[in-house]
Amino acid sequence: MTAPTNELKPVLVFDSGIGGLTVLREARVLMPERGFIYVADDAGFPYGGWEEQALKDRIIGLFGKLLQEHDPEVCIIACNTAFTLVGADLRAAFPQMTFVGTVPAIKPAAERTRSGLVSVLATPGTVKRAYTRDLIQSFAQQCHVRLVGSENLARMAEAYIRGDTVSDEAVLAEIDQCFVEKDGHKTDIVVLACTHYPFMANLFRRLAPWPVDWLDPAEAIARRARTLVPLVADAVHPDSFDFAVFTSGNPDFATRRLMQGFGLRA
Ligand code: DGL
Repeated sequence: MTAPTNELKPVLVFDSGIGGLTVLREARVLMPERGFIYVADDAGFPYGGWEEQALKDRIIGLFGKLLQEHDPEVCIIACNTAFTLVGADLRAAFPQMTFVGTVPAIKPAAERTRSGLVSVLATPGTVKRAYTRDLIQSFAQQCHVRLVGSENLARMAEAYIRGDTVSDEAVLAEIDQCFVEKDGHKTDIVVLACTHYPFMANLFRRLAPWPVDWLDPAEAIARRARTLVPLVADAVHPDSFDFAVFTSGNPDFATRRLMQGFGLRA
C-alpha cells in the first residue's frame, strides 16, 4: 500500500519484532503529521543469533521490496542488531533513501556516568559487532564497559508485552551480569541496546540489586528522524493510515491486538 499522492510520504519503522514500537511511539509524538508503517520481520525473529552475512542478505532483500511497495520519506531502523550490522550496506544499496539508525547509546552513557562503570545490555549479535567495539573505542575508553549479550530477553519481552507471565528469576538471570562492583564503585548506567528491552524497564527497575539509570535511546532516535523529515505547513495526519506489516504474513491474535493498541492496522 502506498500513500495517496496528495499526502505526505509516510515514515517506515523497521524491527525484527515488536521492539521498534518503543521508537514508533516517540516518533509519532514528534511527527504527528506523518503516516507510519511499522514493519516487523517476525519471520526472521529473533535476529540476535543470526550468522552475519545471512542476516545482511535477508535485510537488504527485504528493503528492496519494502521501498518499492511503500515509498517512504525515511526509514527508521529501530533495531540495534540490524543497524549495527547492515546500516552502511543499506545506505550503499539504496542511496536515494534516508535511513535513521539505532546503535547502542554508549556515547551518552560515557558522558553521564559518575562511577565510570557502564553496562550495555543487548542481543548476542549486537554485543559481538565490530560497530559496538568501535563505539567503545571512540567514546568510552575512559570507562569500564561491560557488554552483556542476552540470549533470551528479546523473546521474553515479546511474551511480556503480549500479556504472558515471565518469572522474576528468569529476568534477573538475564540482567544480573550488568551489575558490576569494582574498587568501591558500582555500575550506574545500563544502556538498553535492544529496542525490545524498554518494554521491560519497570521490571528491570524492580529487580535491580541497586538503582541505575536505564538508558533508552528511543526519544533521541525520534528527534534525529524529525530533523530529516521536512515539516510541511498545515499538513495533517492522513486519516486511519497507519498500519503494520509482518513478514510472516500471519501475526497471532495477541500481536494483532497489540498493534491495534498502538493504532496500527495489522
Ligand atoms: N529489537 C532488536 C534490537 O534492537 C533485536 C531483537 C532480536 O531480534 O533479537 O536489537
